[in-house]
Amino acid sequence: MKILFVCLGNICRSPTADGVFRTYVERAGLTDQVSVDSAGTAAWHIGKSPDPRSEQAAYERGYDLSLLRARQVLLEDFSEFDLILAMDSENYSNLLSLCPDECKPKVKMFLSYSRIATDGDVPDPYYGGHSGFEDVLDLVESASEGLLAYVQSKLC
Ligand code: 4NP
Repeated sequence: MKILFVCLGNICRSPTADGVFRTYVERAGLTDQVSVDSAGTAAWHIGKSPDPRSEQAAYERGYDLSLLRARQVLLEDFSEFDLILAMDSENYSNLLSLCPDECKPKVKMFLSYSRIATDGDVPDPYYGGHSGFEDVLDLVESASEGLLAYVQSKLC
């Protein structure tokens, strides 16, 4: 199963989801069966490392984002991935407008997998302070638990 996390810049929220969920997959012993990637709807930060504030906040909870590099969503992602998970409703709308009709069921809101925050947005932390990055991690960890349970149920 191939899972793509998508935000706007691919330097804050989706790399955080990529690093957290990748770690959950490793801990569950599923690295052979699940692959994880992230991308942005915008092209501004292509090739860049994650925002240092995201990288530091994730590091403090045991997640390594240092090897990730930003890229933009590609048309082939819609056929390549099984699940394309948007961090907020704007990313979701942008993805649906790019997506071929037959692939639209693969596009979902990431927080629909969370037990504490179903269907909401992961707020963009880029212009805010440190607490925004902690909030992103709280939401991403919660949705990643639900997503892992969903993936395990599909693989069994
Ligand atoms: P992200 O956050 O979508 O979570 O990566 C942002 C990163 C950069 C910008 C906006 C949001 N920006 O305006 O450059």
